[in-house]
Amino acid sequence: MRTVLLLNVTGNPTGNPTDTLGRPVRDLRISVTDRCNFRCTYCMPKEIFNSSFQYLQRSELLSFEEIERVAKCFAQKGVTKIRLTGGEPLLRNGIEDLVAKLAGIPEINDVALTTNGALLARKAVSLAAAGLDRVTVSLDSLDDTTFMAMNDVDFPVQKVLDGIDAAAQAGLGPIKINMVVKRGVNDNSVIDMAAYFKGAGHTLRFIEYMDVGATNGWELSDVVDAQTIVETLHEAFPIEPVAPAYPGEVATRWRYLDGTGEIGIISSVTQPFCGNCTRARISAAGALYTCLFAANGTDLRQILRQSPDDEALDQTVNRVWTHRSDRYSESRTSITTGVTKVEMSHIGG
Ligand code: GTP
Ligand code: 5AD
Ligand code: SF4
Ligand code: SF4
Repeated sequence: MRTVLLLNVTGNPTGNPTDTLGRPVRDLRISVTDRCNFRCTYCMPKEIFNSSFQYLQRSELLSFEEIERVAKCFAQKGVTKIRLTGGEPLLRNGIEDLVAKLAGIPEINDVALTTNGALLARKAVSLAAAGLDRVTVSLDSLDDTTFMAMNDVDFPVQKVLDGIDAAAQAGLGPIKINMVVKRGVNDNSVIDMAAYFKGAGHTLRFIEYMDVGATNGWELSDVVDAQTIVETLHEAFPIEPVAPAYPGEVATRWRYLDGTGEIGIISSVTQPFCGNCTRARISAAGALYTCLFAANGTDLRQILRQSPDDEALDQTVNRVWTHRSDRYSESRTSITTGVTKVEMSHIGG
């Protein structure tokens, strides 16, 4: 019986809510700020995210107490894993206090954080002490010219590598490195990145460039498909597929035949994985999104601020999740790619 439960994400023996496609909620991703110290061209292009851009005011952000209430609510519905995102989550003052609150929720067995790594060398020890289990670091190239052109704030590679080292030393591993691959921009960094991180013992994940948000000017011709990435890698360093670590895992896993570790491929464009999608997202302003590509969320902040007990929150989350039918990546067409979608910097990827 246990084997069946583990393999079948749609099984629901617990009474926890499932959506209209039978998917439970397991993974809660919480954005703690819409600000970032980078301006990655595929996420927060400078022309739009400039000094006149209206970021959220402090009072519009969920407080740590409010985030904790939301997390506890989801923990009662089957969530066991929380990922903190942004913008850049390490820009939020006192983030360690939030980590400690979330790590203290008994049902939550994995608290992770996705960061650009700029502040990681400074923060790794305090994050680990607060109870953070692991970090994922975004890094798109080892070549300074390429990386600086992508982060668009002239941030050097070495400082991110120092952050990764500090995180490993602080025990925030196993560390995953996310590389968004964009044709003609950093696709020539794939082999260098693989060579560096296989030696360092971290899992590098290649992400197909996605049409998330409405500001990055995405075109299908910019995407390097997963199969091309796998073939390129296999020529340099032979690899073979590995079974998923858990049902619904976003990345498909591959291991180097020489035993030097693993890589992952996240192919949301060419091989979508909506069927197993058990992720809910909370924006920095406290809206619940049931898909990375949604146009609108459900405001939980007002409920949190109006109702001191959690009944209304609980009912709203149940209602939203049981009505959920999202499968954007599977139904992506030229029509859906034109509609308004929430920006990645609001819900953190
Ligand atoms: P692990 O817990 O380590 O397995 O992490 P994860 O793969 O769940 O999370 P991570 O934030 O590292 O995901 C990597 C990237 O995959 C994200 O930044 C997104 O670009 C993409 N991604 C994650 N979840 C989804 C999803 O539900 N849909 C789509 N289309 N892309 C996703
Ligand atoms: N396509 C794919 N991945 C993206 N990310 C940000 N924008 C995009 C996009 N358009 C990734 C970042 C980071 C994570 C939060 O999302 O590189 O690893
Ligand atoms: Fe910032 Fe991450 Fe977006 Fe880059 S991808 S601008 S680091 S939030
Ligand atoms: Fe989930 Fe939406 Fe991504 Fe599909 S496109 S995997 S439904 S977040």
